[in-house]
Amino acid sequence: MALWAVRSAQAQDVPPGVLQFLRRHEEEEAQHLKQFEQLLGVRSHGKTALPRVPSQWWALAVHLYGYETLGLEFAKLLIGLRPDLISILEDEEVHVGFFEDEVRAILVRGGSAADGARRTGQAWRRRLPGTVDRYLEDESLEPFRDELRRHLLGAVDERFVTVGLLARSEGLEAPIVTQSLGETEG
Ligand SMILES: [Fe+2]
Repeated sequence: MALWAVRSAQAQDVPPGVLQFLRRHEEEEAQHLKQFEQLLGVRSHGKTALPRVPSQWWALAVHLYGYETLGLEFAKLLIGLRPDLISILEDEEVHVGFFEDEVRAILVRGGSAADGARRTGQAWRRRLPGTVDRYLEDESLEPFRDELRRHLLGAVDERFVTVGLLARSEGLEAPIVTQSLGETEG
């Protein structure tokens, strides 16, 4: 899911160690993206120009963390259909964990970078519903769209609140979803 952002991020000024992670990560994302599109009917950008990503690391890390969180949730859905593709889920867990650690480190250090990261998290979260709607626009997803949307937004809220990017009250799509998609009420 984060392929485009990851590709763009490599052109930015990122801390040592991160660039190496991003290179390996890009290869994994390219493979995952194909599998997501084929199996879930999820449509990615389909464009060749790279998206603009923030040049400050504290903002970029928040963007990548957010996209990776979405990627992990899509991977969970994928594994429901194709348990043999468990390695994708494992990759995504590593990706999310990497950026979660980076974001946490930024917040712990405090100062203007931490403030900026929180503002970026809030702004990214405000734009998220539109992003999610684009991912889910395929007709085949119509029966599940509302539930998927709620689930994805809830998953991001949960992570952002836990890591300290958002206050609980700032999660825009209450309630926070903790159950898996397979166990909906009703
Ligand atoms: Fe990923």
